[in-house]
Amino acid sequence: MDSRRAFAPPFENIYIENLRIAEIERGRRGMDVIEAIETRRAYRSLAPVEITPELLADLARCAQLAPSCNNNQPWRFIFIHGPEALAAFHPALSAGNGWAKAASLIIAVFSRKEDDCLIRDREYHLFGDGLATAFLILRAMELGLVAHPIAGYSSKKTREILGIPEEYQIITLINIGRHAEGINPVMSSEQIEQESVRPERKTFAEFAFENRYGVPLASSTIAK
Ligand SMILES: Cc1cc2nc3c(=O)[nH]c(=O)nc-3n(C[C@H](O)[C@H](O)[C@H](O)COP(=O)(O)O)c2cc1C
Repeated sequence: MDSRRAFAPPFENIYIENLRIAEIERGRRGMDVIEAIETRRAYRSLAPVEITPELLADLARCAQLAPSCNNNQPWRFIFIHGPEALAAFHPALSAGNGWAKAASLIIAVFSRKEDDCLIRDREYHLFGDGLATAFLILRAMELGLVAHPIAGYSSKKTREILGIPEEYQIITLINIGRHAEGINPVMSSEQIEQESVRPERKTFAEFAFENRYGVPLASSTIAK
């Protein structure tokens, strides 16, 4: 194959690139990565947002650029949007995730282990899904959207409703909307509290080590 063709991005990617270049030229640069990371929250009060083909392609493009073992790109996504498709999908959500019925877009993320590196006990498709999902979430943040991943759903119903073959593991559903000003009345008191207070994180000492297991990172000054 002509090597230039092999590296030429498909048409839809050129379209997205041009869109981004146009945005940058108009001086509308997005967030810094650090700003997207710091301001991202798994909010549950969602207001509707318009789902356009451009938005879907933009989010898919960011997932597409994630790194993967041997460039295997194991992740698969189904973008569920439009009132009928969403209503048909809602029975797959767990009772505690009723708030997700207000999402304008739900993205099912799934993969199978044979599509990525299998190195002894290491199954990299799960890692690949996580990376692609993280890229997509950060881009959604930059676009002013909430992108909330969940594990609370029925895999069986998700598989049946979306027609996902048995050999794929369904890893998460990402719920997309705008952060609503009010509180969704279906939320529990704990969920309401988490809307304004970020759930606590482990300290560096609990998860980050320096040079050897158990030695806390920068133990004196910078550790938070
Ligand atoms: C794999 C995964 C599964 C999750 N499942 C749910 C869920 O079923 N329901 C829910 O309300 N939030 C769910 N969350 C969101 C987490 O509760 C949330 O990210 C965490 O409490 C930290 O809050 P923050 O993201 O706002 O910082 C999930 C997040 C991840 C990454």
